[in-house]
Amino acid sequence: MSIPVRKYDAVIVGAGGAGLRAAIQLSEAGLKTAVLSKVFPTRSHTVAAQGGVSASLGNSEEDHWHWHMYDTVKGSDWLGDQDAIEFMCRKAPEVVVELEHFGMPFDRTDEGKIYQRPFGGHMSNFGEKPVRRACAAADRTGHAMLHALYQRNVRAQTQFFVEWMALDLIRDEEGQVLGVIALEMETGEVVAFHAKATIFATGGAGRIFYSSTNAFINTGDGLGMAARAGIPLEDMEFWQFHPTGVAGAGVLITEGVRGEGGILRNDKGERFMERYAPNAKDLASRDVVSRAMVTEINEGRGCGPNKDFVTLDITHLPPETIMKRLPGIREISIQFAGIDPIKAPIPVVPTCHYQMGGIPTNYKGQVVLEDGATVAGFYAAGECACASVHGANRLGTNSLLDLLVFGKSSGDTVIEDLASMPKAHKELPAGFADRTLARLGRLESQKDGADVHETRLAMQRTMQNHCGVFRFKDKLEEGVRKILDIEKQAAQTQIKDKSKVWNTARVEALEFDNLIEVAKATMICAEARKESRGAHVRDDAPDTPEFPNGRDDKEWLKHSLWYRDGNKLSYKPVTLKPLSVETIALKTRSY
Ligand code: FUM
Repeated sequence: MSIPVRKYDAVIVGAGGAGLRAAIQLSEAGLKTAVLSKVFPTRSHTVAAQGGVSASLGNSEEDHWHWHMYDTVKGSDWLGDQDAIEFMCRKAPEVVVELEHFGMPFDRTDEGKIYQRPFGGHMSNFGEKPVRRACAAADRTGHAMLHALYQRNVRAQTQFFVEWMALDLIRDEEGQVLGVIALEMETGEVVAFHAKATIFATGGAGRIFYSSTNAFINTGDGLGMAARAGIPLEDMEFWQFHPTGVAGAGVLITEGVRGEGGILRNDKGERFMERYAPNAKDLASRDVVSRAMVTEINEGRGCGPNKDFVTLDITHLPPETIMKRLPGIREISIQFAGIDPIKAPIPVVPTCHYQMGGIPTNYKGQVVLEDGATVAGFYAAGECACASVHGANRLGTNSLLDLLVFGKSSGDTVIEDLASMPKAHKELPAGFADRTLARLGRLESQKDGADVHETRLAMQRTMQNHCGVFRFKDKLEEGVRKILDIEKQAAQTQIKDKSKVWNTARVEALEFDNLIEVAKATMICAEARKESRGAHVRDDAPDTPEFPNGRDDKEWLKHSLWYRDGNKLSYKPVTLKPLSVETIALKTRSY
């Protein structure tokens, strides 16, 4: 069966920060660019980023890109690639000032400069003391950023396809990517977007977990598509649990709250972070703070009737500061926790927030295979990509920076690559849509299969219980068995509501096809990595002078690569050599 084909120079999947930033480069260079998005661009998940975007502007105190680089390498527990990290930290001031010129309404200092606040793990002088590096628009930085980027795209005449879901990559026998097959969610029409360059900017997959700060749209669509097209996923065992999700609701309470002076307390009112991170305290790296909170709760010092959360206290801050710098947080606390943080502390728990791994790329945004070869025509940026700048743990506000820097660089690389490509589109291979159409066909014909919602819930509970903040050998082994079982059910799910009005059930089933790939990759990689590093902490990893904090650099200073075909695992070295400075040497991590 044939499907309609539309031709573009470039197609971008995803209209969050990375997709929009890439689109600006391409459209302003005169390339015919299509951006596909499941939601209206300004509703993409970037909208939920609150606290800031990092850049060593030094607006309030001395700062330097090299200190930012040091913090990022240390935050990554040395798993980040130092060439990509240098690239990102050096570019940060440039892309933030550029964003300001696009119209981003940053808060201001008294002198009229961009306002910067402290954030977890941001230190001056190679780890000495906290520094103000997070450039903020109150506690709605992502929201403001999306609007600035979208408006710039409107000016550049980028063509948006809103409420379109990409289903599969088109890849020919030579491995070249020639676009995507996509579904118009409103009508159910399936169309091929035939492009010389395809950029994935599909965001994360936090919805594999039961409790997540992620939007419902974060279903790992790019990762699922890449995996089905034979491309490995990198470092999928590393997931960040943000310390402060509203207890019971999971909604994000920005780290900017602690940046403005907020304090975490246990049931005795103790500022317990003083014991876990004597120097940085509440502003230690996120993995460190999340583990400290879970330890307090596990040791019986949690708050509330079930002693299952700790509190975030800002009652000592002047109400004017809260109203000016954290208005959104006050609103969220009232709506989701029923308390006004001016008067009472906010109940919080660590909640799944960010995926450090993803589609393997270099710092130019090109997708890179295990042997170092790039995939012609295929690029990725933002949370769906693994450049790898976050390694085993991301620093807060480096996510917004990542999508600006790598959104822009992937756009620049496409422009460069297309200049040396033939003018005409390469022909699509015969039967390019067959597998996708068969997948859609199965959903129509499947009878007596598992319910999508129930099966997805089973996956989310398994991920939460078997692959959380602390990880245990037997739980991980059992988790692998359970997820592989759930995968079998996922292959036979049925949709009860076959209505083509908005195709809601169909879209939910197609998203689940992607989520299950990410869940498998995560659980299998986590079971296989026998050390503790960054956000991956195993109970059975020995914490000895030879392996401080359970980290084993001799055996495990390497990136994992998971292949969907046979659940095969492979590993590749970490790039320790930066672009121009000296390697940041391995050290035990403490804050
Ligand atoms: O805490 C926050 O505002 C989140 C920022 C981030 O994840 O980078």
